[in-house]
Amino acid sequence: MKKKNLIVFGTRPEAIKMAPLVKAFLNEDCFDTKVCVTAQHREMLDQVLDFFEITPDYDLDVMKPNQNLYSLTATIIEGMKPVLEEVQPDYVYVHGDTTTSMAVGIAGFYAGAKVCHVEAGLRTYDRQYPFPEEFNRQLTGRIADYHFAPTKGSKENLLQERTDEKSILVTGNTVIDALLFGIDKVTSTGYSDAEIEMLTSKVDLSKKIILVTGHRRENHGEGLMNICTALKNVAEAYPNTQIIYPVHLNPNVKGPVHELLAGVANILLVPPLAYPAFIWLMEKSYLIITDSGGIQEEAPSLGKPVLVTRTTTERPEAVAEGTVLLVGTDIEEITSKTKQLLDDETYYASMSELHNPYGDGKSVARIVDFIKAL
Ligand code: UD1
Ligand code: UDP
Repeated sequence: MKKKNLIVFGTRPEAIKMAPLVKAFLNEDCFDTKVCVTAQHREMLDQVLDFFEITPDYDLDVMKPNQNLYSLTATIIEGMKPVLEEVQPDYVYVHGDTTTSMAVGIAGFYAGAKVCHVEAGLRTYDRQYPFPEEFNRQLTGRIADYHFAPTKGSKENLLQERTDEKSILVTGNTVIDALLFGIDKVTSTGYSDAEIEMLTSKVDLSKKIILVTGHRRENHGEGLMNICTALKNVAEAYPNTQIIYPVHLNPNVKGPVHELLAGVANILLVPPLAYPAFIWLMEKSYLIITDSGGIQEEAPSLGKPVLVTRTTTERPEAVAEGTVLLVGTDIEEITSKTKQLLDDETYYASMSELHNPYGDGKSVARIVDFIKAL
């Protein structure tokens, strides 16, 4: 009898980080693997499915404009019931810290499946930062039967919470598997991409590129406005730089960012980029300003300094190695650190060394081998 897997994800970062696992399991004859998307995100999820050529077996299609956490959670748990009843999985795989991860974890437990948590054990131990992700990840950790921890530090966190050591495997982060696959594809001969062509035609790549993203709920409002003010300051003080900001579709982000930054010289606002164009642009960038978790993990592999617009991070490894710096949402702090990276070559060099604390690109192979051996 083949073991039955159900891999479930819903947002852009989960899709990117689960795509290599989907591919790996679909290549294994000893598993019957099905993919379900909650579609907590829609366009931003579909961009990833297209690039990795994944066709989900189930699509809950739950996204609503400006959705709230209450109905999102309830809709996902209810929507999973018929899928779980039909598939009857032995293993349900969830990723990280989103509402999809937490709600599907609960549903998988109700269905009696073994819940496998990919990217387990990251912690800030402050339930308000990031909100609601820290709580989502802790809760998913309590539910999970197996924990795939990206680093030794994340394993340590789980052990401190009295998680059974035999249920934890240190794998590296699957985002590095995705990144290596993506870079390989984007740089292969004959690869063409409309977004990359658009960027090449609109942007003077000889300028220093500052790549910006942001979406954290706790930064909505004042934090996001501060970030925009700092970007405006930098753009005005450094006409030889080009800021490129692919703006998240969340109306609480898109609205204020366009209001504050549209039309500012040297700042290009674009819709969210599909993964290949985004990693192409990361590679071309001089520095990155972001509150994204995934980008904090990818950038050190590309030797790009990252200023993180948060005061805490559940990803301390690259901070400890000096390639990632927490700057919060203080206008002066963001502006001055950006200026320092633009002006001070020694400082820039110290932050742009190649590091790979988050993985070697073999994370999904470790997960597949672990499940095979059960
Ligand atoms: C979600 C996750 C967050 C993750 C982030 C990645 C939760 C609570 N939040 O935050 O952990 O880091 O995704 O980007 O799980 N929207 C669209 N199209 C899309 C995607 C979003 O229009 O493809 C708009 C919709 O109006 C939607 C809103 O953005 O209602 C918010 O989406 P939601 O997934 O609830 O929150 P994010 O801020 O994207
Ligand atoms: N990303 C992308 N296009 C964009 C911005 C980000 O493909 O316009 C990728 C990025 O490379 C990373 C992931 O999306 O792999 C991060 O997603 P996000 O910042 O939305 O979520 P987080 O990682 O903070 O949960």
